Amino acid sequence: MNKPIVWVTRTVDEPAVRKISEVAEVEIWPAENPPPPEVILEKVQRVDGLLTMLTDALTAAIIDNAPRLKVISQMAVGFDNIDIEAATRRGIPVGHTPGVLTETTADFAWALLMAAARRVAEADREVHQGIWRPWGPDVLTGVDVHGATLGIIGFGRIGKAVARRAIGFSMKVLYNDPKRDEAAEQELGVEYRDLDRLLQESDFISLHTYYTPEYHHLINRFCFEQMKDGAIFINTARGGLVDHQALQWALESKKLAAAALDVFEPEPIPRDHPLLQLPNLIITPHIASASARTRQKMALIAADNLIAGLRGEKLAYCANPQVYHV
Ligand code: DGY
Repeated sequence: MNKPIVWVTRTVDEPAVRKISEVAEVEIWPAENPPPPEVILEKVQRVDGLLTMLTDALTAAIIDNAPRLKVISQMAVGFDNIDIEAATRRGIPVGHTPGVLTETTADFAWALLMAAARRVAEADREVHQGIWRPWGPDVLTGVDVHGATLGIIGFGRIGKAVARRAIGFSMKVLYNDPKRDEAAEQELGVEYRDLDRLLQESDFISLHTYYTPEYHHLINRFCFEQMKDGAIFINTARGGLVDHQALQWALESKKLAAAALDVFEPEPIPRDHPLLQLPNLIITPHIASASARTRQKMALIAADNLIAGLRGEKLAYCANPQVYHV
């Protein structure tokens, strides 16, 4: 019997590829850049399984053009690049990789928070440019993290992992989420706030929510206006959650002391984007989950989800479990 055919849209860790190769013929997109939409459209017409990245836009037009497709397995926890409704309509389960990247992503959010508070990137840039300012009472002074108030928007796995780090820094932690979590309040000593109050009371605000179209520009000019003067804003979730024109206003006007972003809309940020001129912005290229070990684990989970889907078994981590109830 012929093996099923799968397409992996970027080079992933070898053990994951080996695993998939045991059950399928594997074709891999070899380039560092994501495959262009027209290549995806062409490839999907003849594959049984797809292992995708968050940079691959799997629109309804693409999904409807994939007559043999049995499973989409995304190597990420987020899946806002995939038209889930279209996949579900076609009975195609969509896998993702929650859990394994929680602590790694929280580590990175914490690194950004610390770096923004203490102006690490700015200071490093200066020294690399040959500017070592002599020690002085107000040279590169930043903001204390310890004892400050952190507001976490989106209190899922990653939001909670960030809260645990904050507790180690004697911070007061506020959270906002569609669902109040009284067990976590007890366990972590965090306090629920509605979004407005969270914005008004926090010294640091960190975003950890999924992106859905309803959350587009969740953080807009009005939100920045409500924040404390000198607050610091961190986003390791999705770029589309933030109105970046409003962020630019907040940074230029010094309403915010600083911001640190690991995500943007669009990615990559255009080279001439005015935000890149601002010294109080740190920006990294969507690497919060990028520890080698976590990426290996993500690849293996994505491989397992893919193989389960090819076999017609339930995926261990499925973004559209409703597909099994129709
Ligand atoms: C995800 O998994 O959704 C992160 O954004 C990248 O790992």
